[in-house]
Amino acid sequence: MPLPKAELHLHIEGTLEPELAFALAARNAVELPFENTEALRRAYDFEDLQSFLDLYYSLMAVLRTEDDFADLTDAYLARAAAQGVRHAEIFFDPQAHISRGVPMGTVVDGLARALDASEQRHGISTRLIMCFLRDRSAESAMETLEAAKPYLHRITAVGLDSAEADNPPSKFREVYEAAAALGLRKVAHAGEEGPASYVREALDVLGVERVDHGLRCLEDAELVARLARERIPLTLCPLSNVRLRVIDTLEDHPLDRMMDAGLMCTVNSDDPAYFGGYVGDTFHAVREALSLDEERLRELARNSFLASFLEDDEERRAR
Ligand code: HPA
Ligand code: ZN
Repeated sequence: MPLPKAELHLHIEGTLEPELAFALAARNAVELPFENTEALRRAYDFEDLQSFLDLYYSLMAVLRTEDDFADLTDAYLARAAAQGVRHAEIFFDPQAHISRGVPMGTVVDGLARALDASEQRHGISTRLIMCFLRDRSAESAMETLEAAKPYLHRITAVGLDSAEADNPPSKFREVYEAAAALGLRKVAHAGEEGPASYVREALDVLGVERVDHGLRCLEDAELVARLARERIPLTLCPLSNVRLRVIDTLEDHPLDRMMDAGLMCTVNSDDPAYFGGYVGDTFHAVREALSLDEERLRELARNSFLASFLEDDEERRAR
């Protein structure tokens, strides 16, 4: 039996496996710039975050209908369930779809169809986190929040993703204030490729409850002490860090040192179709690479529920 766990850092568009990409391309008569799944897999050799994002956004062309989003989500939930996931807080990128002519309603209704069946079908409770693309304007983020207003009952939190360098959290101060006023909770990617100061901004300017990645907090000892003291969860994604060359090898990953420093770490898959594993695979890989003992693994699993947006009673049931 795999360890029960929650997944808190998962981009639903990053669960698009090559086989499903080709099936959806055929269903929607979309031409992919790859001959077959093998050729596509060979393109999963990334140099940095941007080289991944280029492929990630281009493959989204196959996602067009409510059925597509429902099928994508159901496929993720089935894989996650097999690896012990009991609760998933799922990011989606509406701007990447709206700008291709796929309306917010198509995206959210498709995701929601799969999520509504998830507890029954897969034993996984879920939340949705709507991400703003930080390499687009603050105005575009605000328009996205506006477009989400009819669907807010489906959305728990806002997040911030895409190309981090030169797109600091402070650019999105107003839209985060507006989101909070609508009752949405707040997370943001920070300190993946961007500096430790972006982690500070995410906390102090945006008021996030959790930091996605947060790895580069390690460059600022005072910040590490604060994150530990305030028990701010970090949603780490070790396989992603290796594939996007944020760190050289998994053996070099600072996860164990971060836990030693008292940081509240969780382990997640980020974009599992692209980075070589789902969250159970990730647990297995870090256990091997860093020689983590059972107690450490249980702590990571426990943290994943404690850092989730589940209410206390739900959290106990999920564990
Ligand atoms: N970082 C930033 N944006 C993203 C990622 C990531 O790892 N995956 C999907 N969007
Ligand atoms: Zn991410």
